Amino acid sequence: MRAKPSFTAGQLHRHTSPDELARTTRALRATGRKIAFVPTMGALHEGHRELMSRARRIPNTVLVVSIFVNPLQFGAGEDFERYPRPLEADLEVCAAERAELVFTPEREALYPDGAQVTVHPGPLGDELEGAVRPGHFAGVLTVVAKLFNIVRPDYALFGEKDFQQLTLIKKMVRDLDMDPHVIGIPTVRERDGLAKSSRNAYLDAGQRTAATALSAAVTAGAYAGAQGAQAVLAAAEAVLAGTPELEVDYLALRGPDLGPAPDQGEARLLVAARLGGTRLIDNAALHLGGGELGTHG
Ligand code: PAJ
Repeated sequence: MRAKPSFTAGQLHRHTSPDELARTTRALRATGRKIAFVPTMGALHEGHRELMSRARRIPNTVLVVSIFVNPLQFGAGEDFERYPRPLEADLEVCAAERAELVFTPEREALYPDGAQVTVHPGPLGDELEGAVRPGHFAGVLTVVAKLFNIVRPDYALFGEKDFQQLTLIKKMVRDLDMDPHVIGIPTVRERDGLAKSSRNAYLDAGQRTAATALSAAVTAGAYAGAQGAQAVLAAAEAVLAGTPELEVDYLALRGPDLGPAPDQGEARLLVAARLGGTRLIDNAALHLGGGELGTHG
């Protein structure tokens, strides 16, 4: 019989072996604690910290964080090699956020035979981000499904910053009858509106200034919601047009689940653009219709 993994409540424990982590979470569950899980690729910032702090606030939970730069979700020519990996600083962040388990697997531990069986994201996986990054969401859903099977979380927290990712994970959980309760957390931003992202570190000073156009565009679009879809897109496009350094991949108005936008009601405005070699995304919730501006006093 294998020895029970040692676990001291309130301390940070690091595991690299999937089997060991699975045994520890199983033992914790048997003591009646719930598992709240925050999957990440590291280079942890305030956005990740917000997910951790929300997870911790769920009563009677142990916070589990994974740090793994998943090769399967990066395309050829993307930034897999240069993606930042400041492991020691990340472990300090996890400890400061009172995570009790951090999972840092090696690539071979998660993909011993490469990745032959994968999760197919369905049609939404080929749209928006998926149209620009073929195979990206199959890579994301495959690693998230694997992590869910290893950790068996009761709650899994994801940021609205990656809204299409969050939507597809909710859809995977529903369509494949998985257990975790998926919780979406609003985007954490810099003071000037730029969504916090590990990739912001790639921006030089000029690009950093230009990058604020993404949040400004979706915010301007959201404010125009009452005047309808065309006004939303026109307002966002006007902001983007004022920042010619941005190479826009898409600006799209969709329904709240990323289906077609309704004529009236809840919607999402999403944008993706490149600045030099760096790709940035952002999105905002909005309400379409509701009459002419000014009719509500
Ligand atoms: P990563 O980019 O590290 O993000 C981990 C989680 O943090 C995601 O749920 C993401 O949406 C959230 N996040 C990032 N920036 C945020 C911000 N500014 N505000 C709020 N939440 C934010 O997303 C991934 O990793 C990977 O695709 C992963 C799900 C871990 C699978 O490999």
